[in-house]
Amino acid sequence: LSEKPAPAREVKVIRRKLNGYVGFANLPKQWHRKSIRRGFNLNVMVVGESGLGKSTLMNTLFNRNLYSASSAAIPATEKPSAVEIESLSADIEENGVRLHLTIIDTPGFGDAINNTDSWTSIVSDINNRFDTYLEAESKVTRNTIADTRVHALIYFIEPTGHSLKPLDITFMKQVHGKVNLVPVIAKSDTMTEEEIVEFKQRINDDIITHNINIFKPAQFENDDDDTILSTQDLIAKIPFAVVGSTTAVTTADDRQVRGRSYPWGVIEVDNEEHCDFVRLRDLLVRNFLEELRERTGNVLYENYRTEKLKKMGIDQDNSVFREFDPNLKQEEEKVLHEAKLAKMEAEMKTVFQQKVSEKEKKLQMSESELFARHKEMKDKLLKQVKVLEEKKSQLEKSKTTTGDGSLQPAQKTRKGFLR
Ligand code: GTP
Repeated sequence: LSEKPAPAREVKVIRRKLNGYVGFANLPKQWHRKSIRRGFNLNVMVVGESGLGKSTLMNTLFNRNLYSASSAAIPATEKPSAVEIESLSADIEENGVRLHLTIIDTPGFGDAINNTDSWTSIVSDINNRFDTYLEAESKVTRNTIADTRVHALIYFIEPTGHSLKPLDITFMKQVHGKVNLVPVIAKSDTMTEEEIVEFKQRINDDIITHNINIFKPAQFENDDDDTILSTQDLIAKIPFAVVGSTTAVTTADDRQVRGRSYPWGVIEVDNEEHCDFVRLRDLLVRNFLEELRERTGNVLYENYRTEKLKKMGIDQDNSVFREFDPNLKQEEEKVLHEAKLAKMEAEMKTVFQQKVSEKEKKLQMSESELFARHKEMKDKLLKQVKVLEEKKSQLEKSKTTTGDGSLQPAQKTRKGFLR
């Protein structure tokens, strides 16, 4: 019964040398020019408990003071009671390349005594951004859609050295299907190297146990060896142990660096030996910005969109493809034509029946009229017969009374009547 699978067709690739310069080798240059002209945009959401160094790290990443002075340090008494969503935007330029950066901050996360619902406003903000994009996409004019979707979410883990807290796990599980999740160990300069290694191991164990999807850059076969190695190193260092500082400090060998100064020495932010700040920057900006954006659009948003449309009861519409199938189209037209004929036939039948019943009614009416007239005439005739009968009997009576056989006036009358 089992049929043998058809042998796979061998595809012959004929490699020929081009006779002349066609020009498609220039495509990357065209792409490059277009990208420079358009610029780039990146939307980063930062989530973590108060004081974990979120604003400092963002300022360190983009090397400028993105947060205004007013939002810098909020005293504990003035902290918002619920999680708020605050967006800060900045247009930054580096060597002629423009980047429109938006930082979405979430002050108040994890600050409440009961943090069970700490994540709700964050999740609904992520959803709202998808909805806005979906709405813009569905409009008739959609040549310029502003992409406000979250391209990366940096989640700040407190440097406790233990393992993930229930709030960390709950939050990550709530958002991992909607954003590129990048967990980082905040203020890692407060831990020793050994502690960081152990803490990373525990966090990764928790991530695996709870099936949490975190962002890991894709590795491609045709990447060069250096790229493959650096990507592997990057992935191995997740979750990144970061240190933030925009302040310049002087090292023991008299160098001015961004870092944090301690009695035992200086922690350099931009030194890969000291912390993972450089790796985080590579992932977010230098090497994988486009991958983050692409995954947001092609995977996360697509999944959200499909789910949303399904919930609204909209299924895949294949009518566009059907139009191009001539057989299907012919079949559809035939069915439509037959339905039209059947409808016409039914209509004609109704009209015919209506006319027949009208005629029947008319006939019935004229029949009863005829009966009435017949009865009327019959009654009239009967009356006349009766009158004649009476007259006849009167005549006979008078005939017997006279007895001479001469013609009496009554007989004359009868004669006259008979004439
Ligand atoms: P909120 O605005 O309250 O949510 O705080 P935040 O998470 O934005 O923290 P912020 O950047 O304001 O930093 C809080 C304090 O931590 C400041 O005094 C920073 O100087 C300090 N800080 C920031 N990053 C680091 C770090 O990497 N290591 C150390 N040791 N301290 C840091």
